[in-house]
Amino acid sequence: MNAGWVNRVFREDALAGMARIPDGSIDLILTDPPYNLGKDYGNGSDQQSVEDYLAWTQQWIDAALPKLKDNGSLYIFLTWRFAPEIFVMLKQRMTMMNEIIWDRRVPSMGGSTRSYSSVHDTIGFFVKRKDYYFDLDAVRIPYDAETKKARSRSIFVGAKWLEVGYNPKDVWSVSRLHREHPERADHPTQKPLEIIERMVKASCPPGGVVLDPFMGSGTTALAAKRTGRNYTGFELNPAYCDIIESRLAAPEPAPAAKKRKGANKAAPKIEEGTA
Ligand SMILES: C[S@@+](CC[C@H](N)C(=O)[O-])C[C@H]1O[C@@H](n2cnc3c(N)ncnc32)[C@H](O)[C@@H]1O
Repeated sequence: MNAGWVNRVFREDALAGMARIPDGSIDLILTDPPYNLGKDYGNGSDQQSVEDYLAWTQQWIDAALPKLKDNGSLYIFLTWRFAPEIFVMLKQRMTMMNEIIWDRRVPSMGGSTRSYSSVHDTIGFFVKRKDYYFDLDAVRIPYDAETKKARSRSIFVGAKWLEVGYNPKDVWSVSRLHREHPERADHPTQKPLEIIERMVKASCPPGGVVLDPFMGSGTTALAAKRTGRNYTGFELNPAYCDIIESRLAAPEPAPAAKKRKGANKAAPKIEEGTA
């Protein structure tokens, strides 16, 4: 594998940096681009006019999709504001498998008074071809002891599904990372590892490569490392690049999955882009 771009996060514009990655080399694109809701990432990327934002989105999609292998997949985090337009862009080129709702478990306090309070992010799951990689067993959710006990009658004995757990549904209820959360880094829109790791385990084979053009605090890179996959990607903001570097260098308290031989041999490194 080309060590020049694998297990690296480059401090550069994703649009230029994508040229580093050979076409057809990526197993999974997993990304959480700016939502254009006015957040300050230090680069104006979330504060564009609607027209510019959608044109820019089309540009990075055009640059990223050729990097995917034929059996590759893409997950994209969005909100209801621009998900409709961006899903239409992706549906021109890929098959949409799911719209996943991330329920951020926002407490019932305050919120909008002239509309319903929005408490979810919208995630699109897309594939290139019918024979896409998908490892359901890697992400099954174990039944709790009570359910197993309730199904202890003889007709259920030996039922495989009871042992292997159930298929995650398309509403994922996982708490957002509040300020005191031990996983929390100094990034305004950091995503929980629990969600990203599920996507990586289901849709990237062990030893494969995950591309995230918009790394933020590096959650995708860390999830790939913890699950025995490789990563590559970009982040414009130098302070966030420092966060990525320290998250990747920190000792692992409890690996989410068994580390696979051969993955992540290169030392994690944030490199300033030259492109
Ligand atoms: C929504 S955040 C990603 C958060 C990330 N998923 C996490 O868990 O920390 C989007 C990131 O994209 C970065 N960004 C915006 N435009 C970029 C560009 N053209 N190239 C590289 N990074 C960019 C922003 O600085 C921001 O940190």
